[in-house]
Amino acid sequence: MEENDVKIKGLPGIPKNIAKKLIELGYVDVKSLAFSNPEQIADESAIGLTTLQEIIKKARKKLGSPFEAADSIYDKRTKISRITTGSYNLDSLLGGGIESQSITEVYGAFRSGKTQLAFQLAVNVQRPEDEGGLDAGAIFIDCEGSFRPERIVEMASALSLHPMEILKNILVARAYNSEHQIFITKQIPKILKKMNARLIIVDSVIGHFRAEYLGPESLIKRQGKLNKYLHLLQNLASTYDLAVFITNQIQADPSISYGDASQPTGGNILAHAAQTRIYLRRIRRNERSARLIDSPYLPEGEIVFEITSDGIRDIT
Ligand code: GTP
Ligand code: MG
Repeated sequence: MEENDVKIKGLPGIPKNIAKKLIELGYVDVKSLAFSNPEQIADESAIGLTTLQEIIKKARKKLGSPFEAADSIYDKRTKISRITTGSYNLDSLLGGGIESQSITEVYGAFRSGKTQLAFQLAVNVQRPEDEGGLDAGAIFIDCEGSFRPERIVEMASALSLHPMEILKNILVARAYNSEHQIFITKQIPKILKKMNARLIIVDSVIGHFRAEYLGPESLIKRQGKLNKYLHLLQNLASTYDLAVFITNQIQADPSISYGDASQPTGGNILAHAAQTRIYLRRIRRNERSARLIDSPYLPEGEIVFEITSDGIRDIT
């Protein structure tokens, strides 16, 4: 780490050795500290709780009053940006694309198109605003080894974009277990200091947690960890005005004896974390249906789109 990097932006007077540890853990600025929990940082670092409480108090003071008038919240919400999915119908279902400042979850069986949609968004976010992008890069947390640069190249070429430039603006990290996944995610504020990214993808969000915490006796522990992780993602989305896009698997719900018994994994914890949930289903060959399951203000609905060699498109 360079000398001038050992400073928390906007918060002077923190001893270098402590600032260094905090930055390593991803607490790089006033916001990331103000919204954090001193007990949690004490757990993951060798910094004393009292010192942390003081630092966080200072960060919160610096940030000012936690209250704001509702008109300014309204104003902020009108500034929410959207990323196009590549399908006009899917965008319409979502009120114009996937939103910044919140978590969008897509769940579905294998081959339903979750990863393809993630790739398409990683390309589209880089397009200019008048083309449905945010003129910014993407961060891809790959928990399943699903990242395929060749497919990104195909999607970028189809839009007459420069494939190598598009690839350069997607930062990929392979997560090997849930601890590693959490560690990587905590590095994001540090990355954002150097890169203008507006989209975080986690594919898949829960796979490692499910594989590591098996059996009913570890369920509470797993849900606790997952809850913390989802809070971390939500904080990133709100603090840095990012769109967070997570994929999730499905499982059969034994209590449903007819109809579609497929349920997303993760239970209530995940259900409450994602503001928008989309259920993807394979209809035939390249056709997929997307159903909006949960949205704070959009009506439920269902549309059909296609996965073509060019990427996600409307059926023509
Ligand atoms: P899991 O990760 O296994 O749970 O599945 P997923 O939901 O992530 O599925 P994914 O997004 O990987 O979708 C795979 C499907 O996308 C394939 O079965 C194909 O139908 C389609 N697909 C992938 N690549 C191409 C391509 O280059 N051309 C076309 N036309 N379709 C593709
Ligand atoms: Mg996948």
